[in-house]
Amino acid sequence: MDMQRFKPNRGHDAPIYLQLYRRYRDAIAVGKLQPGDRVPSVRSLASELNLARGTVEMAYQMLTSEGYFLTRGPAGTVVSPRLENLGEPGYGFASSSFAPPRSCLGADAGQVRPFQLGVPALDAFPRKTWTRLAGHNLRTMDTAAMGYPDPTGHEPLRRAIAAYLGISRGIACTHEQVFVTAGYRGALELVCRTLLRSGDIGWYEDPGYLFARQFLERAGMRLEPVPVDAEGLSVGIGQQRAAEARFAVVTPTHQSPMGMALSLPRRLQLLEWAGHRKAWIIEDDYDSEFRYHGRPLPALKSLDRDGRVLYSGTFSKVLFPGLRLAYLVVPEAQVEQFKDTANHLCGPGSILLQATVTDFMDQGHFARHLRKMRSLYATRRGYLVDALMQALGSRLHVQPQAGGIHVLAKLTNRESDKSLAAAAQSNGLAIQALSQWQIRRTSHGGLLMGFANVTEPEMAKALICRLAAAIQSQ
Ligand SMILES: Cc1ncc(COP(=O)(O)O)c(C=O)c1O
Repeated sequence: MDMQRFKPNRGHDAPIYLQLYRRYRDAIAVGKLQPGDRVPSVRSLASELNLARGTVEMAYQMLTSEGYFLTRGPAGTVVSPRLENLGEPGYGFASSSFAPPRSCLGADAGQVRPFQLGVPALDAFPRKTWTRLAGHNLRTMDTAAMGYPDPTGHEPLRRAIAAYLGISRGIACTHEQVFVTAGYRGALELVCRTLLRSGDIGWYEDPGYLFARQFLERAGMRLEPVPVDAEGLSVGIGQQRAAEARFAVVTPTHQSPMGMALSLPRRLQLLEWAGHRKAWIIEDDYDSEFRYHGRPLPALKSLDRDGRVLYSGTFSKVLFPGLRLAYLVVPEAQVEQFKDTANHLCGPGSILLQATVTDFMDQGHFARHLRKMRSLYATRRGYLVDALMQALGSRLHVQPQAGGIHVLAKLTNRESDKSLAAAAQSNGLAIQALSQWQIRRTSHGGLLMGFANVTEPEMAKALICRLAAAIQSQ
């Protein structure tokens, strides 16, 4: 093969390793290199193209970590045969070069990019079990499953969720209180359409989950940013700034994105405020299942004596986000009102998917999967933190976090986290700037990186190398 066509251009803006990486990727995308084709060794390519070995190594590491290349030890490196089954040539390539940096404000559809936030370990999902259960549901579909679905959710699933919440989250509720929704946004829609009145103020954690913030603003809630500190939401500041608020939206188990838990005194203070003011607390318990140190904390809802907490959980982190299934638990006194709203919304979609989740839970696969994922995530987090510390330890400080599936690396100096994140994004890394999640600016910048799909230490090293090169060159 004529290797000269891979020769990078020294006058080009992009670093040499990146040019080499792109050329290989393009050659695979257009079919010039086929799955199974051998590629030259690092040493011979470096000598043929007159490049440093480290440069070629970096490009090869990226190609390997992203699944384009497969290394076979002494048998050499080949274009991954797994690409064969992926359909059209070019499948999986957003374009023949890097996808343009997507706004971090937009939802990331389709392809999972390195460090993408909020996406669980898709490679570790028990697909065989899932397809068996889904297949069984399809084959045995009765006429009930062919009619209009219950807008509050498939009853067996609501029962399974109520049972799970009782055991795992300390929440005593009946299936009548559980509403299955199309993702967390579906839960927020149900809340807003049922309880939100014109001009209502809502406390919102600052920094806080970007998508929900945008959703609530669009729905007409006037958000009052309330800072978070080491104990989570500063309830006292919320009371000073807007005691009359009708909502407080919180992530008590692992504050999103900072990761701390809401302390017990703050929980009690928040509940007392809500009880006194007749305000609603929206508890977003999005990834409580993943905690690596200490005992999982019970949900805030488990302390809710006055019926002020609207509790939301999601299957996006524990199963996969493409399911678009989440749930909302409402106080008993509000059930009828919520049912009425649910009757006028789209609901959570097909019964078949909901029935498959039910079987997955009822047959013990869910508990098994969670157990497996807990230890897998602790390992994968370790890969990323080690690689980060080795390559960028002087510029970044990794916040210790007891749970979750992302890492927050705080900047040790006053660099702009937005420019670092932008440089990373234009190199194909889905890293987000902490300041993007802040409503009021503070001086502390940081980088948010999902680690669930960082499958090997080598992959972590290669990706962090790429990050280091990206931020060095900006
Ligand atoms: C803080 C937070 N809440 C909730 C969710 C769940 O959203 P959904 O159920 O729409 O996937 C996420 C997903 O990333 C999240 O990060």
